[in-house]
Amino acid sequence: MPDLKTMDDVVSADVPVLEGAEAVAPDALFADGVRDENAFGGALGLRKGPAFTDSERDRMKEMIKAHLVDTAKGFSADAAAEVRAVDLELYHEISDRLDHRQLLSKKGRIMTDEAVQEMKGMSFFDYARKAFGADHYLSDEEGIGHEQVCLRVVRPNVREDVGSLHADHWFWEHYDWAPPPGEGRTKMWMGVCVDGVQNGLRLAPGSHRENRPYRVVRDGHKIAFAPDFDLNTLDLRVFDAKPGEPILFNYRTLHVGTFNTAPTTRVSVEITFMYKEDQQARSAA
Ligand SMILES: [Fe+2]
Repeated sequence: MPDLKTMDDVVSADVPVLEGAEAVAPDALFADGVRDENAFGGALGLRKGPAFTDSERDRMKEMIKAHLVDTAKGFSADAAAEVRAVDLELYHEISDRLDHRQLLSKKGRIMTDEAVQEMKGMSFFDYARKAFGADHYLSDEEGIGHEQVCLRVVRPNVREDVGSLHADHWFWEHYDWAPPPGEGRTKMWMGVCVDGVQNGLRLAPGSHRENRPYRVVRDGHKIAFAPDFDLNTLDLRVFDAKPGEPILFNYRTLHVGTFNTAPTTRVSVEITFMYKEDQQARSAA
């Protein structure tokens, strides 16, 4: 295993490829078949999902491009023209000529309701309906006013585009967001433009059951989380991500992006599924 001393090591050291997470039938996603947040993904705490079709992924690329062009229009016609003229994978070639931070601010990274509803018509969501129930929905923890699909854009060789190791649960805990009583959460990440181990997501299988400590760190007016444990005790793996192939993971699974060593920009989407947990699990808890 690599020597992980710093967060730079965590995002860039060579780590083994994630194995054993092949997609399963939707009713096998939860340990013992009990739909409960903590049981998601069994011992690994994660599972690949069925891939989006090529035409679905192409459509998502179009929608993401249109979204970035629309956001850029809010700054200037020149910025919008720059974004319109470049392939999504080559966004890094023009990003210095834009206000990248503003274009991809938290608000700029949230797809419109219209785009979200169109994505929900794609085949992956048939699987999601079987896994999470027909009444599942996508979270809106920031209170935007509609279900959220969030974008991530990671340019080649830009450290600041990759965050810090965390569990999504930490954000909810810190901000005092809570799921409605009896509801659970599961995350989905999917690379729309992604190049395997060179910029795929890194995850620690089994970490959802370890309850590892963290510290809250202030970074200007942003907050970030810092793992408060020896990083070398972590069994970190890299998801050899193929475009359009989603991975679903437990809300307590530790994960982080990969420092992008590919020649192309990584563009990914993230979703939090919200669903009714089984009564039986709640009464036993
Ligand atoms: Fe996350």
